[in-house]
Amino acid sequence: MSVHVPVLGAEVLQWLQPRAGGVYVDATVGYGGHAAAILAAAPGGRLIGLDRDERALAGARERLAAFGARAHLVHADFAQLGEVLAGQPADGILFDVGVSSAQLDDPVRGFSFRADAPLDMRMDPSRGQTAADLVNTLPGPELAEILLRYGEERWAARIADFVVQARRRRPIATTGDLVEIIRAAVRAGARRGPGHPARRTFQALRIAVNGELDALRAGLAAAAAALAPLGRVVVIAFHSLEDRIVKTTFRGLGQHGFAVLTKKPVRPTAAETAANPRARSARLRALAREGIGA
Ligand SMILES: C[S@@+](CC[C@H](N)C(=O)[O-])C[C@H]1O[C@@H](n2cnc3c(N)ncnc32)[C@H](O)[C@@H]1O
Repeated sequence: MSVHVPVLGAEVLQWLQPRAGGVYVDATVGYGGHAAAILAAAPGGRLIGLDRDERALAGARERLAAFGARAHLVHADFAQLGEVLAGQPADGILFDVGVSSAQLDDPVRGFSFRADAPLDMRMDPSRGQTAADLVNTLPGPELAEILLRYGEERWAARIADFVVQARRRRPIATTGDLVEIIRAAVRAGARRGPGHPARRTFQALRIAVNGELDALRAGLAAAAAALAPLGRVVVIAFHSLEDRIVKTTFRGLGQHGFAVLTKKPVRPTAAETAANPRARSARLRALAREGIGA
């Protein structure tokens, strides 16, 4: 297991403001990096950590063992945050969405276009359709729509056509198979552009496989409903589709008893991105529930 360095670690504490005896929720506990920092900053406080990936939870269990019963871990999608909390108010809720470095680096999960692996991409491998199921069964136009909407991929229609042709010959089984098809579909000029030609397609399929944007909308609504007066929600997003949802949801809540604390998203420092290139696209936003009678 690679040691996970939490993104925007100091900024999360600055905006969440954990305090002694508080109740906190880490909706994406991952390997427990942020959760450990929150528990350390809130003496006597409790943290409920959710993740839809059992393997990540096993890592968090190990990392948070020193906090004993102060940490309570639950295998759940954060869209179900309301059911998990069952009416218990929270003083702070953190979302650090997307996949973890451990998931990306795990060669059997199929999240990375850099390693050949079964084309899976499920954060919770115990349920739902894999990326292979989608690329082998969806009608071409539906596949193109996913690549366009969730990947903002300008070659969406052409990649979808190439996928449909390729799967007539044999099923697309691995990340390597898909990367090869994308390379063939994307014109030479685009192949020379910045970034890997498969990056947008992989992002799109991952979002579709895991229903990431719907889960984020549901999770943010549940978080706002669960927040104690003066409690805070902090969200770290990694691409513009997620960040747009956070921004518009917060703006809407700003009219209904909440205050948006971050006018602009908080970005990592140059020092952090130099040390951890995966932090590069992170954007943090924070929201507070107003006090009673505010
Ligand atoms: C970027 S990592 C979080 C890392 C964590 N903050 C840390 O310090 O170790 C994102 C985690 O969120 C989980 N995740 C993503 N979407 C989720 C959802 N809808 N419900 C629950 N967990 C989710 C992923 O499985 C992954 O482990």
